[in-house]
Amino acid sequence: MFDLHGRKINKLRISLSEACNMACTYCVSSLHDHKRDPDELKAKQIISLVHMLKDHAGIEKIRLTGGEPLLYPNLIQVIAGIREMGLSSIGMTTNGQLLARKAEALAKAGLKSVNLSLDSLQPEKFKSLGRVGKLYKTLEGIEACLQNGLSVKVNMVVIKGENENEIVDMLEYGLTHGIEIRFLELMAMGPLYKKDDYKLVSMHEMLERISARFTVKPVSADQDSTSLRYWVPGGYFGIIPNNSAPFCSTCSRLRLTSNGQLIGCLSNPTPISIHHLLNHPDPADALQKIVKKSISYKQDFAFTGSALVMSRVGG
Ligand code: 5AD
Repeated sequence: MFDLHGRKINKLRISLSEACNMACTYCVSSLHDHKRDPDELKAKQIISLVHMLKDHAGIEKIRLTGGEPLLYPNLIQVIAGIREMGLSSIGMTTNGQLLARKAEALAKAGLKSVNLSLDSLQPEKFKSLGRVGKLYKTLEGIEACLQNGLSVKVNMVVIKGENENEIVDMLEYGLTHGIEIRFLELMAMGPLYKKDDYKLVSMHEMLERISARFTVKPVSADQDSTSLRYWVPGGYFGIIPNNSAPFCSTCSRLRLTSNGQLIGCLSNPTPISIHHLLNHPDPADALQKIVKKSISYKQDFAFTGSALVMSRVGG
């Protein structure tokens, strides 16, 4: 489906659950902020809604997020169901804490790619940024993905005075393991919304640090990619410049919350429920109207901050 700005909206991000087993300081104020929605969709319901969105709204690519998607009880069933309906582009964004034991089954069910959130390679810093969780578990999860043929990217949210001194170390870790690292500019969401002490590290500062160590050359990325892509000797990395060079104008995403609401835009997050369509004998028209409405909320200039907590929508 095309939005008012002529963008083809074909990617769906599904927040399977708002529950999370970490509590990153830039995402929530405490672990208790992550609450499973009492109306969390069942696996069968998610599969039905994806089916409708594929058939009637042109959705082609799926990313499973959260909260933490590995806490969703029937994750394998969801992945297998999505693959069975003929969608092969299935990715997941996870903190990786529970990944090591599950990677094999996930790959067998049809998962293709995993984006790992990893903000530090120092155990103490990892803990202080995430409040809960252990670095070695995420690293083991990454190894398990690579062993099972899953394509892996790492997301590092760069935060002033916290982990900006690790940018080069993280890039070296990526180059050693054949993993593309994506450095994310901090977004003013959830607890950071309208905060003065917002610890942004700009894309230019990131590039300065990396260029001091490596020869860096920009390369082209996919048209609807959120990241700018760069070559360095031995591999590639990306920067997701949420603030410096917002990618809103090429945004092709629609989001489904864990209780069955569509959200068209992070800056303008007006949810519209599609839950009731589960019982509709012929949902095509009603669904198309809702999707049109939802993507009409999409802006095309820049992310402007949001009180929305990332765990509702998973990025
Ligand atoms: N700013 C930037 N990135 C964020 N993420 C979560 N909250 C923020 C924020 N405020 C990241 C997660 C994950 C990705 C989906 O978004 O770390 O990797």
